[in-house]
Amino acid sequence: MGRGPSDRYFQVLNECYVDGTLTCLKPSVIEQRINTKFPLVLNIEPTNDCNAKCYYCAREMMIKEQGIHYLSIMDFRNIIDQIGNNKLIMLNLHKNGEPLLNKNLPEMVTYAKEKNAADIIHLNTNGILLNSSVGKGIIKHGIDDITVSIDAAFEDTYVKFKGLSGLEKLESNIIKAIEYRNKIRSLTKIRVKIMEFDEVSKEELNLFHKKWTDVADEVQVTGIHNWSGAVGVKVTDEQVGKRYVCALLWYMLAINSNGKVGLCSVDWNYSGVVGDIHTQTIHEIWNGILLKKIRQAQLKGIWDYPKVCEKCVVWVSVGNMTEFFKRRRAFISK
Ligand SMILES: C[S@@+](CC[C@H](N)C(=O)[O-])C[C@H]1O[C@@H](n2cnc3c(N)ncnc32)[C@H](O)[C@@H]1O
Repeated sequence: MGRGPSDRYFQVLNECYVDGTLTCLKPSVIEQRINTKFPLVLNIEPTNDCNAKCYYCAREMMIKEQGIHYLSIMDFRNIIDQIGNNKLIMLNLHKNGEPLLNKNLPEMVTYAKEKNAADIIHLNTNGILLNSSVGKGIIKHGIDDITVSIDAAFEDTYVKFKGLSGLEKLESNIIKAIEYRNKIRSLTKIRVKIMEFDEVSKEELNLFHKKWTDVADEVQVTGIHNWSGAVGVKVTDEQVGKRYVCALLWYMLAINSNGKVGLCSVDWNYSGVVGDIHTQTIHEIWNGILLKKIRQAQLKGIWDYPKVCEKCVVWVSVGNMTEFFKRRRAFISK
């Protein structure tokens, strides 16, 4: 008999997140839990290396500037140790690269679990290595939630999107990982994801649902964004609207595999770097002058500081909390 996610998992997810997203906290949760001690959500990138070349991803441009890095287990422990009593709502073990390429990932999951670092430990993966020792390792060591970014139901689309072939092999890997999860009675949730945009037909979306609805724990359909104008895709329609402040700046940070700390998971070009874990604590960065200046700029309606925010569309998904943030002076004053 299989397992899969616990009731507690669903409770946290439903209470905290805007429906259908794993990035956007509900405004009511932000209002209750926001604090200057520590962010509510962290993305930690195990590596910015990748085994795919997705055409809608900005990673290839990023590594030309930043090089390839793997986060060490020492750096990871250092970050987790700083969480202390400020348990995160979600710890995401991904950013721009493919996390399963870091062989220390199972150990990272174990450490984060032991330290009770987050209500939900989650990662996105392209799934190519899901059936490897690292993939099985994270399931065995109790990761709560895995999103597999399949993003296609036809081989042609898969090749076009990912720059490599092998959809059938990937699908079989995912099924094997689910079987393994069931066999060891792990609670890990395994979700599959596709993006809805003008290059994915209705027929492909329907086939994706048909393939996965009774197999995976959840089928997630997300929109597409343009990495702040860096990639040439037509963003999902409802993401175009009147600009307001980005709530993510008040609840999350994203730690790159080289230790540089950025604003969020969209900060692919490091223009939103506000600190470095090798020289500062997360608390110092969270309350640092750089981040406060960026929050102040947003409250004044300045959208191009830093550059990565200028054409970003992710801000729309939480909702307009401008008036609430204006009253939280500690987040913007020295
Ligand atoms: C950058 S990837 C890194 C993690 C991992 N390599 C993966 O493929 O899931 C994180 C997520 O971003 C998604 N993604 C990439 N480009 C995107 C875009 N332009 N808009 C929305 N999501 C995107 C991927 O499909 C994936 O689910």
